[in-house]
Amino acid sequence: MAQAKKIVIANWKMNPPTSAEAKKLFGGIKRKVSSIRGVQTIVCPPFVFLTELTQSYSGSKISFGAQDVFFEQKGSFTGEVSAAMLTSVGAQYVIIGHSERRALGEDNEDIAKKVKAALKEGLRIILCIGEHERSEDGAYLSFLKEELITALSGVSQKDISKCIIAYEPIWAIGKSAKDAMQPRSVHEMSIYIRKILTEKYNKQKALTVPILYGGSVGPTNVEALAERGAINGFLVGGASLDPESFAFVVKSMQN
Ligand code: PGA
Repeated sequence: MAQAKKIVIANWKMNPPTSAEAKKLFGGIKRKVSSIRGVQTIVCPPFVFLTELTQSYSGSKISFGAQDVFFEQKGSFTGEVSAAMLTSVGAQYVIIGHSERRALGEDNEDIAKKVKAALKEGLRIILCIGEHERSEDGAYLSFLKEELITALSGVSQKDISKCIIAYEPIWAIGKSAKDAMQPRSVHEMSIYIRKILTEKYNKQKALTVPILYGGSVGPTNVEALAERGAINGFLVGGASLDPESFAFVVKSMQN
């Protein structure tokens, strides 16, 4: 049976403060992960550091992604960045629908448009979904389904293989390891997401879509999550700003 690739993604968010520090951080990550085999590593720096990093590290095994993209191709959209601009500076991936973008006003329809525009330009998608809170009636399950189905509404059978799903429960983001989701719950959510994908897409294809977990992943909890979470990797925020911790996360997916 076909299997999804193992992937670990660094989401630097609005860090580090300078271009020199971004280069230093990337260099550190590159050194630490260079000997790790069988796990695809993707670094998503802020837009402004992309050009310099992709140029300085063009031969590296680490791929580059952006943290957002706009859905229009060009024109009067002050402050926005198009998919073509991203590919032109060497980005191969883009995070879409991160909860921190959603909190600034982005909705499921905007996200669907971004996914389509990015695919059209040849970018691969890191689609983030995640509930704000968990209630006993299980309403978060239909909330997640809605996020996923709407975001993928324009994604064909062919293009689903260019998507990665990052499940990031909002209540578990940016906290300490003890607040992260427990492996058993991650396992349940991964099955749930996989089921939605197999209902919408050809089963063989749906099985190869990587499903990642994100939310306070770090050296102290990653091994249990990797072992028992039934996921294909991680989307890492805070711990991706420390090469040692990030490499530990990448390594946890090696076996
Ligand atoms: P965190 O962030 O690892 O700092 O919780 C994850 C994310 O928001 O992508």
